[in-house]
Amino acid sequence: MLAPALEVPIQNGTGSIPTVGLGTWTVFGEQGNADEVEKACLAAIDAGYRHIDCAWCYGTQPGVGRALEAKIREGVITREDMFITTKLWDTHHNPSLVSEELKDSLTTLRTDYVDLFLIHWPLALQDQDMSGKPIAPLDADGKGIPAEHALEDVWKAMEECHRAGLTRNIGLSNFNKKQVDRIMKICTIKPSNMQVEVSPYFSNSRILDHCRQLGMTLTAYAPLGAPNRPWRETGEPNVFEDPVLKEIATVKRKTTAQVILRFHIQRGLVVIPKSIRTSRIQENIQIFDFTLTDDEMSKIAALDKNLRVFKESIGFNHKEYPFNEPF
Ligand SMILES: NC(=O)c1ccc[n+]([C@@H]2O[C@H](COP(=O)([O-])OP(=O)(O)OC[C@H]3O[C@@H](n4cnc5c(N)ncnc54)[C@H](OP(=O)(O)O)[C@@H]3O)[C@@H](O)[C@H]2O)c1
Repeated sequence: MLAPALEVPIQNGTGSIPTVGLGTWTVFGEQGNADEVEKACLAAIDAGYRHIDCAWCYGTQPGVGRALEAKIREGVITREDMFITTKLWDTHHNPSLVSEELKDSLTTLRTDYVDLFLIHWPLALQDQDMSGKPIAPLDADGKGIPAEHALEDVWKAMEECHRAGLTRNIGLSNFNKKQVDRIMKICTIKPSNMQVEVSPYFSNSRILDHCRQLGMTLTAYAPLGAPNRPWRETGEPNVFEDPVLKEIATVKRKTTAQVILRFHIQRGLVVIPKSIRTSRIQENIQIFDFTLTDDEMSKIAALDKNLRVFKESIGFNHKEYPFNEPF
């Protein structure tokens, strides 16, 4: 077994985040595949992962909970060894639903706290109960039906969850600069983490730099560019076919995935690659035994194409849609 990965200290909060976490969004199917994710989590913990990235809307948290319980029972880990993130879904922005959703996540994750609770998107949708049906209420055009819950009020409810001991840290995901600044203006507990899309083709540098200056830790989602996404558009490039990345991988005797993940962590980011295959899960954490040179880092940085692949089309008409701003 590998030694647990390195960690990034949390400035605006408690503890530190292991640099490599396992993603648990299985893409296909409304409710995800919890059994597949359970096996992936078991393999990940055996491979040295101590960080799992979850969300209420992925529908895979029951699998994460079963894996955590099994590995704690086996004596491989304690709960304290693990860093578990979950996220507040769009249909639960009503401040009266925020802690209800987190408690629902805690039940499925089989734990009494998470380490990090993020607002998944700044896109409040029509209130729903915890049945998850529908995950996103849509209008006839396939756009999410918005709800009027101010982001500032949602943040206050997140702070209450922190005060109640349900989560050790709170943070944001997919917010733009103006939205981050609005939270900074009213918060009594600062956001400790920002989770955004980052890949070699999407550096997302401006929002990362802004949040870094505010003392937030930074997590790169879809760090491998979500190569198997079903909505890939014709002609969109795939990082795994990139000649620059392939050449650096050959020189380093590493895989393309390892080079990409190492690139991100040398930028000071936490990465949460998703895989359900044991060999890839192991591969994706074996990135602490080599270093990219400044020249290699510059060559990879030059691949940026500003190619965002998570555009969240259900939010296109929403007044808080985050990606109409420059960053
Ligand atoms: N905050 C947000 O809004 C948000 C949005 C998207 C994602 N996320 C989080 O970020 C995590 C990762 O993002 P993602 O799953 O979209 O994309 P990703 O991690 O960039 O890519 C995952 C895909 O790459 C494949 N893969 C993994 N390791 C590989 C390797 N070593 N070699 C070749 N292929 C490999 C996986 O296939 P196999 O499984 O078949 O190996 C999977 O199809 C998610 O699971 C979720 O936890 C958060």
